[in-house]
Amino acid sequence: MSENQVVTVTHKGDVAWVEINNPPVNATSTAVRQGLADAVAAVAGARVAVLKCAGRTFVAGGDMSEFDAPPVEPHLPDVVQMIEDSPTPFVAMMHSNVLGGGFEIAMGCAWRIAASGTGFGLPEVNVGLIPGAAGTQRLPRLIGMDAAIDIACSGKIVKADAMLALGGIDMVSDNLEADVNSFIADLPARPTAISARTVPAFADDLIETKRAALAKRAKGQQSPLENLEALQWALEPFAEGQPKERARHLALRHSPESRALRHAFFAERVVAKPDAIKGATPRDIASLVVVGGGLMGAGIATSALNAGLSVTLIERDADAAKQAETRVHGLLEGAVKRGKMTADAFEARKTAFRAVSDYAEAASAPLAIEAVFEDVAVKREVFQKLAAVMADDAILATNTSYLDPMLIFEGIENQDRCIGLHFFSPAHIMKLLEIVKTPHTSAEVLATGFALGKRLRKISVLSGICDGFIGNRILAAYRRAADYLLADGALPYQVDAAMRKMGVPMGPYEMQDLTGLQIAWANRKRQAATRDPNERYVTIADQLCEMDRLGQRTGKGWYTYEEGNRKPLRDPEVEAIVEAYSAQNGITRRAFTEEEIAGRLLAVIANEGALIVQEGIAERAADVDMVKVHGYGFPRWRGGPMQYAKEIGLEKSKEFMQLVATDSPGSWKVASWKGVV
Ligand code: NAI
Repeated sequence: MSENQVVTVTHKGDVAWVEINNPPVNATSTAVRQGLADAVAAVAGARVAVLKCAGRTFVAGGDMSEFDAPPVEPHLPDVVQMIEDSPTPFVAMMHSNVLGGGFEIAMGCAWRIAASGTGFGLPEVNVGLIPGAAGTQRLPRLIGMDAAIDIACSGKIVKADAMLALGGIDMVSDNLEADVNSFIADLPARPTAISARTVPAFADDLIETKRAALAKRAKGQQSPLENLEALQWALEPFAEGQPKERARHLALRHSPESRALRHAFFAERVVAKPDAIKGATPRDIASLVVVGGGLMGAGIATSALNAGLSVTLIERDADAAKQAETRVHGLLEGAVKRGKMTADAFEARKTAFRAVSDYAEAASAPLAIEAVFEDVAVKREVFQKLAAVMADDAILATNTSYLDPMLIFEGIENQDRCIGLHFFSPAHIMKLLEIVKTPHTSAEVLATGFALGKRLRKISVLSGICDGFIGNRILAAYRRAADYLLADGALPYQVDAAMRKMGVPMGPYEMQDLTGLQIAWANRKRQAATRDPNERYVTIADQLCEMDRLGQRTGKGWYTYEEGNRKPLRDPEVEAIVEAYSAQNGITRRAFTEEEIAGRLLAVIANEGALIVQEGIAERAADVDMVKVHGYGFPRWRGGPMQYAKEIGLEKSKEFMQLVATDSPGSWKVASWKGVV
């Protein structure tokens, strides 16, 4: 028996049992790779070797913490090759997840046997990479090019039954231990090593068709296309394709895209554990009340039902309650129609849901989320009624977008139970949840908010109180900067094109047309009294609103729309208004390149994010990044605006911000970035 800390080899008769034990997910760290290399030597002489993993899963990936450092020997492709070349053939005995390096190791084995439900995948694409241990070279040889593209280019996980059907594994078992034992008792003839096989024939136009579809979906992200390219190297001899894959994998580790995606991966985990909840124990929430069953309330209720909670929705009267019920049932039904929910689950959710008009129904609930009209008086009245019937310590949450929670909760007893839970529309789909802390919110209540967010499968981000919280405050700055560009010489379509080019699904003007111009208009009116008179105020958006150009809902906004078509069309009327605005204000319009436009707008977003961190509204830059990525369509492959600013160089981002500030004196506070990144 040979052994290092993480890989052990035990001989029983003529069988060698090799076990990896590297919690939590048996990642292919240096110690695991070395242990496997030693194990290949140690199994010599055995009739067969079985490779298995201790703990909750088979090898579920590489060790990302090693990716920034130079690679250390033995390298994984060499280890996989040793396994494949071993005179003693290996059986991979797999459970739970077989991902990335884990799948590559399994493909070095002669046979693969998986417990039912095991998931297989090459998720490297999700962190801006291609596999580096011949995953793209062996997979098409094993299951064909079409299926290999689907897996490697999307990062999706394929379950054992489907993998068996693709020919990627030899058996799916409900009784792994016993089935592996009978398999090795009567081994079939050793199959040809995967690296020695050729890729089965596939359709002539397969690659081009896939390339077009991937490019469209990737919106600027390169890694799906990188994987497609690497998969094609499998058509060359293995000895040529494999080193190419390895070299590209190592190069991509240092690409901005991979850095950004790894940043996002870690940021998603960091934001879920803010300092403010350290040491606090969340309450268990199994049911909740939603007040207001409009657009947001219905979405929030649906999200909670989907997470297995029971929900009581309170509306103004019986009619409104009925309408809210119809709305929630409709959202649930939508999931059934899209094949995302079974009929049984639909019935269970309907049973867990009630829409009522009597506040007494809230009496026993541990938490209520208010989503009524954006009006302080209305919201206050709702909380008075809730406080009157609910327990003294029941959590009271507001979904307000812009109102100050301190005003909303004024007069409520026990303010430590008051919190903001700011969902995004549509609330049953959007990932982001801003959890707003008032100066009184207790750590326990905050922690409960985060636990609820996790249960609803949201990315929860802590925010302090400021106008618009983190996300909408940045949105307001972004739109203001875009409007300044219009006043100074750009046109809406140019601004949108520049931003789309950097990876957002929609530019600021198309987005406003989609969501409607009226909310921001109402906010600007509300802010008028307190706005700094020195701040530049561009009235173009207001003019459009006054003309009832409120976006797609009125058929016109920043663009015009043909009946039944959502495609924005340039509108000479709008462009004339923009140009007239410049003329009336004595501005000589000038041309902006797309780089200038995107550079300035991204600098404004990052600058506002830095101010938010400096003011303590957000705990850290990663919080800002996750708000923008999961609530506002900022490309995840750019990591978020703060990561992007770091990537292009903070000095460059600051220079752009300085230009913006100089062009509009008195309008911008420039962040120092002290302590931000
Ligand atoms: P909505 O107008 O679609 O729905 C409001 C609902 O509240 C209506 O169904 C109304 O009947 C009900 N309601 C009004 N007064 C009530 C009362 N006293 N008791 C019970 N129900 C009452 O509005 P929407 O868009 O759902 O917004 C609700 C809240 O969510 C607002 O505070 C808004 O700022 C916030 N929000 C809105 C987002 C959006 O994209 N629309 C995004 C995030 C937050």
